[in-house]
Amino acid sequence: MSSNSKVIKSTKLFWNVQFIYELVLARKELEAFNIEYQLNNNLRNLEVSKVPNADEFISRTAYFEEIEGIPSLYSKITKANVTRSLNQYLTHWFYPYKGKYHPQLIRALLNIMRIQPGETILDSFIGSGTTALEAQLLGINCIGLDISEVCTRVTRAKTHAFKNLEDIENTFLTFQNISTNLSNSDEEIEYIKSMINDVQDSNVQNFFKVAELISHSDKARRKKKNFNESFLKNSEKMLRSIKDYEQIISDNKLNLGETDIKLGDAKNLEISSESIDGIICSPPYSIALNYVENDKHALEALGYDTKIIKEDFIGVRGSGKTKIDLYNQDLILSYNEMDRVLKPGKLCSIVIGNATVDKKEVNTVEYTIEIFQNLGYSLEMNVDKIIFGLYNIMQKENILVFKKP
Ligand SMILES: C[S@@+](CC[C@H](N)C(=O)[O-])C[C@H]1O[C@@H](n2cnc3c(N)ncnc32)[C@H](O)[C@@H]1O
Repeated sequence: MSSNSKVIKSTKLFWNVQFIYELVLARKELEAFNIEYQLNNNLRNLEVSKVPNADEFISRTAYFEEIEGIPSLYSKITKANVTRSLNQYLTHWFYPYKGKYHPQLIRALLNIMRIQPGETILDSFIGSGTTALEAQLLGINCIGLDISEVCTRVTRAKTHAFKNLEDIENTFLTFQNISTNLSNSDEEIEYIKSMINDVQDSNVQNFFKVAELISHSDKARRKKKNFNESFLKNSEKMLRSIKDYEQIISDNKLNLGETDIKLGDAKNLEISSESIDGIICSPPYSIALNYVENDKHALEALGYDTKIIKEDFIGVRGSGKTKIDLYNQDLILSYNEMDRVLKPGKLCSIVIGNATVDKKEVNTVEYTIEIFQNLGYSLEMNVDKIIFGLYNIMQKENILVFKKP
């Protein structure tokens, strides 16, 4: 037993831990920290008998709100939230991205996979940056890649903007003087765009670019007419979140991980072989979600022709049977790349589901397991997880963890 080993009895799960998969992961989290426990008749009550390193567990756990009355670090972090949505704390809410991870799941996976501070993980489909932010909070380095510039910009704003807090505050003050007398939305959009382009520091500029992209989304999805008003509101709310982040870092003396966010193709990684300590990713869901259509307004605002860029996105090329064949081919290429960059003996987690097309289920989960097993990997974990909001196409996904030989 280590010096701070304690005999602990009571634990309290977060109240939002309600699904079977969450209870399974909470138990796996305890096991990852070599904690002995008993599940009593009230399934929410995990009686813990021995905790070899209580301080480490309190600072890392994703599913426990309290351990012997001591609040976990995560319970403090999740309170820093400017939104009404429970899992959109700190900067997680930046940009209304569809189909993102639940951050708590990623924190738990980093624990279950026993990734240590200072190690480097990869998410080659970084999307809105959930993996990058959760790794950063645990002191774990993250390389995050996406084919979409909307995603790399949003992820960078979530994980880098707090470093330039003062500059961002000052720039915001000058932006507040933007004329509200511009006569139409197009004029406003062009004016804001040119003001952002004039910002010298790339980190500060990117922060406001993301506020602009959120406003494009407000305009397209929520039919908000006043672009200038929306831009200033978004910037102000984002600013509050990066202040919160700064506060959480200093109050809890967090040593953050480094994040390296790049535009790139998961099928062709510019990363050295056997250099990565762990992989967590969720490849695009074939036909279930069209990431080009979802972010069309933001991609166009960045100057992309979506008809051209579509060809680089996995899962949206072709139609009918060809679409599924192309998707399967692209998945193999990206899995091969993950295999190349992962160190031997390390873990790779893929979160993926089977979509239903023309009333037929496409067996992407089984296909993924087969590919990894053919590469010599063992399947260490396979947990079913419910999905909301895609009922007619996909009801559940699987959390898979493979181990490289
Ligand atoms: C399921 S989403 C990932 C969501 C992410 N886990 C999150 O929490 O936001 C899949 C992502 O894969 C990206 N993608 C599609 N084709 C790609 C490719 N060839 N290389 C890298 N990323 C790609 C899409 O842009 C999308 O952001």
